Amino acid sequence: MTADLFDGLELAGPTREQLAPGAVLLRGFARPQEAELITAIETIAAQAPFRRMVTPGGHQMSVAMTSCGACGWVTDRSGYRYDAVDPDSGQPWPAMPPLFHQLAEVAASEAGFAGFAPDACLINRYEPGARMSLHQDRDERDIGAPIVSVSLGLPATFLFGGLKRTDRTQRYRLVHGDVVVWGGPARLAFHGVAPLADGEHARLGRRRINLTFRRAR
Ligand code: SIN
Ligand code: FE2
Repeated sequence: MTADLFDGLELAGPTREQLAPGAVLLRGFARPQEAELITAIETIAAQAPFRRMVTPGGHQMSVAMTSCGACGWVTDRSGYRYDAVDPDSGQPWPAMPPLFHQLAEVAASEAGFAGFAPDACLINRYEPGARMSLHQDRDERDIGAPIVSVSLGLPATFLFGGLKRTDRTQRYRLVHGDVVVWGGPARLAFHGVAPLADGEHARLGRRRINLTFRRAR
């Protein structure tokens, strides 16, 4: 088979990979919306700028974050929580653009979780070297709803493990446009992101942006 034919197959549509029961990687799923997603992220960040928050243990995160939706995720010396107000501005977080909501709902449904209605979207910005250590997403009130994660910009190595911190993790390369959905039996799976390798992305430069949609309240 020629390389051209492989390219054609790649373009034929998103492919799906099962990471674990309840966890699916939808390759290229957000690709058709890339331009609108990036524009919307810029608009949100103009209102609620990316910031590197401090964990309850006093460490400054390497990932810079902001949020949109009815509530946003914040961390400071007093703990982790969802808050309707951006602590930096004292204002509500920017609204979640309909495009974000639709993308998350369709991706969740594609992964077997129909009716997903996210009320929070965390926006993570990774620069070279930034990482996210292994953790569970457990600050959401409704863990019956899945997590939908959209990757944009530089490729990253995503670590996906089991329900125990010590469970073996698998490594997946996530590139621009890839979407991962985990819920049901995988909802509390440990996951993280290895230190971002340097590079230059055609649209986002030396950055990776990740959106995670959650039903927080
Ligand atoms: C997260 O776990 O909140 C972020 C995952 C990612 O950046 O891919
Ligand atoms: Fe997470």
